Amino acid sequence: MELLRSLIFVPGNRANMLERALDFDADIIMVDLEDSVPAAEKVNAREVAREWVPKLQEAGQRVMVRLNALDTGLTRDELAAVISPHLYGVSVGKTESAWDLQEIERIIAPLEARAGLAPGQVKIIPWIESAKAMVNVHAMASASPRIIAIAFGAEDFTNDMGIQRTDDGDEVYHARATVAIAARAVGVASLDSPYVAFRNPEGLRKDAGVARQLGYTGKFAIHPAQVETINELFSPLTDDVAYARRVMDAWYEAEANGRGSLALDGKMVDVPVVKRAQNLLALVDEIEH
Ligand code: GLV
Ligand code: MG
Repeated sequence: MELLRSLIFVPGNRANMLERALDFDADIIMVDLEDSVPAAEKVNAREVAREWVPKLQEAGQRVMVRLNALDTGLTRDELAAVISPHLYGVSVGKTESAWDLQEIERIIAPLEARAGLAPGQVKIIPWIESAKAMVNVHAMASASPRIIAIAFGAEDFTNDMGIQRTDDGDEVYHARATVAIAARAVGVASLDSPYVAFRNPEGLRKDAGVARQLGYTGKFAIHPAQVETINELFSPLTDDVAYARRVMDAWYEAEANGRGSLALDGKMVDVPVVKRAQNLLALVDEIEH
């Protein structure tokens, strides 16, 4: 499983911004053909993306493209433009059902074969950003083995619900949690909506902290200044790692003495605590290698 802590959006029609993305530190560069690209620029953005996906990948980036929703009529041409051995996968805006994802798979499969890729190589991240998608989220997350993560879009979701979007996000708390739980149930990653106030680092830290505590494994960025905070918040914290190492040491010692639980810093350590420590150390291993 590849790291998916930070995914930075770059508008697909902006070659100057794509050039800057050669040096971004995010886990994924998400070239956007959807809502950051104006209608009149959609075709141009597709051509710019066709050219820039290989350049970014050759510079060492892992690259995905966000496509317009199926009902725009643009999705097929966008897939045809961007599928190549340089592309890691696609995310698709405003997907609403397992059927939508099967339709996207039907379009991808022959393009993938034509590009000389193995079946299933092109990954998919569906966006869950409407009431209908929220109701179907479990079926969507398990609709295809290509799905590596599901993404929550708070802006579109609040629009669809006809409610205000606020900075503290109380209005999306339940929906946001629903997406993280569905992802966990299916065993895929969960990616939180971007924090749009990109000049407010404290706000980002708080918002990402809530997402992390809801179970999210990563978050979108809309500005390069957000990437470091996101990577930090979705990596194990130094104190937690040190504690996990102590738990494992104490556990091996207890095991050697025939005991199934022990006390550490005045707290009981038993199997679930040990599993948490093991999972955390496995993630550290993944980040370091
Ligand atoms: C992102 O796509 C959102 O709608 O918030
Ligand atoms: Mg959206």
